[in-house]
Amino acid sequence: MRQLLFAANWKMHIGPDEARAYMKAFRARYHRREDREVWFFPPAVSVEATAQATRDRGDLLVGTQDIYWEPKGAFTGAVSAPLALQAGARASLIGHSERRHVFGETDDDTRRKVGAALAAGLLPVVCVGETLVERDAGHTLAVVVRQLAAALGGLDGAALARVVVAYEPVWAIGTGRNATPQDAAAVHREIRGWLERRGTPPHAARVLYGGSVSAKNAAALLTEQELDGVLVGGASLDPEGWAQLVQTDAA
Ligand code: PGA
Repeated sequence: MRQLLFAANWKMHIGPDEARAYMKAFRARYHRREDREVWFFPPAVSVEATAQATRDRGDLLVGTQDIYWEPKGAFTGAVSAPLALQAGARASLIGHSERRHVFGETDDDTRRKVGAALAAGLLPVVCVGETLVERDAGHTLAVVVRQLAAALGGLDGAALARVVVAYEPVWAIGTGRNATPQDAAAVHREIRGWLERRGTPPHAARVLYGGSVSAKNAAALLTEQELDGVLVGGASLDPEGWAQLVQTDAA
């Protein structure tokens, strides 16, 4: 059975009280399906509330949107992987394009964060993707491979098997303009090949697509077998809409 992963990136929305109300509404409309998992990435302050509201559901998992690589210390404002774990997180986004482009995160930062996540037992969801300028210059694959090599180049197959990669073209995030299913699939094929050449066991690699995924285009995107799921920002903020989106079947 094809397994799909639907990941919700709430970005800087949904505080703890709102998260409790959200999960109540979501759970009322989404009942467990054997062929899919749903992961939530709330802002750090809402991780604990969201994790508590999903504790009895093995198909629902909560993660942070970012972590810092040091485990503890004088790093004002930062959240470490062990602290995220204590709050109930089991995964973390790493290298999201907003971290890279708004906060100046580098390829080398992503490498340290992936190492810290794996050391603490968090599943890293590594985000990669090209800007419009890079795409127009024909550099999509070169950029994606550079980002993969930087973040994951030092890992063996056993570690890579715990990594999820999200392909999110920067020009598609929050713009209403998604990659075509065929264009996304072509990049996913390269990512999967890269992971498998470095020892990721066959069928273990999970590659998600992100960038303006909505109830309107999810079925067409998921029809591409290269997609193991989707990472969704805007369309995950409403619990009813998200509950509907995660029940999407491939067209
Ligand atoms: P979007 O965001 O679905 O709002 O385009 C996706 C993301 O940034 O993960």
